[in-house]
Amino acid sequence: MRKSTAPARAAAPAGADDAIVVRPVRRADLDQVIDIDATVTGLEKRKYWASVFRRYGSAERAEQQFLVALQGGRVVGFIIGEVRDWEFGSPPCGWVFAIDVDPRARLGGIGTRLLQAISERFRSAGVRQLRTLLALDNTLILSFFRSQGMMAGPLISLEMDLD
Ligand SMILES: CC(C)(COP(=O)(O)OP(=O)(O)OC[C@H]1O[C@@H](n2cnc3c(N)ncnc32)[C@H](O)[C@@H]1OP(=O)(O)O)[C@@H](O)C(=O)NCCC(=O)NCCS
Repeated sequence: MRKSTAPARAAAPAGADDAIVVRPVRRADLDQVIDIDATVTGLEKRKYWASVFRRYGSAERAEQQFLVALQGGRVVGFIIGEVRDWEFGSPPCGWVFAIDVDPRARLGGIGTRLLQAISERFRSAGVRQLRTLLALDNTLILSFFRSQGMMAGPLISLEMDLD
């Protein structure tokens, strides 16, 4: 086998305060997740987050993922997603339905690390495709997903009022 001649990337020093760690969420992280969401959306939704934690917070299920990024021991971002089997007529596919990085920690690669981490877990669950839905006017999240290689897919969303 040919040895790679590419220079090795400098590894972050172990235990460095600014090293980013991504791991499954724990109950003790929830207050910080709620704070980040409230900062970004302007709404504090404690009941909602307790329910998301119950559904997605078990590190045992590869199909449901709720991951947090920590920097200096503080939660600075999270990502949530799940594998959907044969819904919308598609083979099993990994869906990302929430990603948020603390505004004070943005543009430092944390969103990228979160998306990579959930992608690795979905790959381990046998999934080969990643999808998400986003608001048309959310250019920030669109720029982010485009930077990660995501492009317009074959589905469109439809909706109507039920009143
Ligand atoms: C989108 C978001 C997750 C990105 O997190 P982040 O940690 O700042 O992202 P990264 O540092 O990994 O950025 C990766 C790339 O995304 C793109 N990007 C990120 N922020 C950007 C911005 N403000 N403007 C343009 N491009 C941007 C860039 O291409 C960037 O690569 P570069 O730094 O080499 O230019 C973060 O801005 C966020 O939480 N926004 C609010 C999300 C939201 O609306 N959530 C609700 C819907 S789920």
